[in-house]
Amino acid sequence: MLEIAEQIRSLIEGVDYEISNLANASALIYDSMEELNWAGFYILQDGKLKLGPFQGKIACTSIPVGKGVCGTAVAEDRTVVVDNVHEFKGHIACDSASNSEIVIPVHKNGEIYGVLDIDSVAFGRFSQSDREELEKCVKIIESSLKYN
Ligand code: SME
Repeated sequence: MLEIAEQIRSLIEGVDYEISNLANASALIYDSMEELNWAGFYILQDGKLKLGPFQGKIACTSIPVGKGVCGTAVAEDRTVVVDNVHEFKGHIACDSASNSEIVIPVHKNGEIYGVLDIDSVAFGRFSQSDREELEKCVKIIESSLKYN
């Protein structure tokens, strides 16, 4: 089976509507990795992260920059991996089944556009190789955003 990033590349190739690409990318990630309970995007708008395309249970619709794992990833412009969300100060619990989380900032034209947020029911779900693969997915998504 192709790596997730390569599948995303073929999925979004030639599709010029970014919401469609984010929606399909979240569906592909959700289906391709085990033990996930949420995978999707928050989009930065007016200084807040707004809920974008996702797979999973209903989630909070607005997260201030600097709050929660998502807001921290934006404030510090870096990937944040949390092995146990219950130990992360300020974690925002949208789905009580979540135990670990990874959040990767997504950029458009050099600025933060939003984040890819993935939650798991397992503790310590996201390994270094998962992180590298998901960061590769984000790079591919970013290159599609440039043309919109
Ligand atoms: N747990 C996130 C909030 C979003 S949900 O996981 C979908 C956070 O702390 O930022």
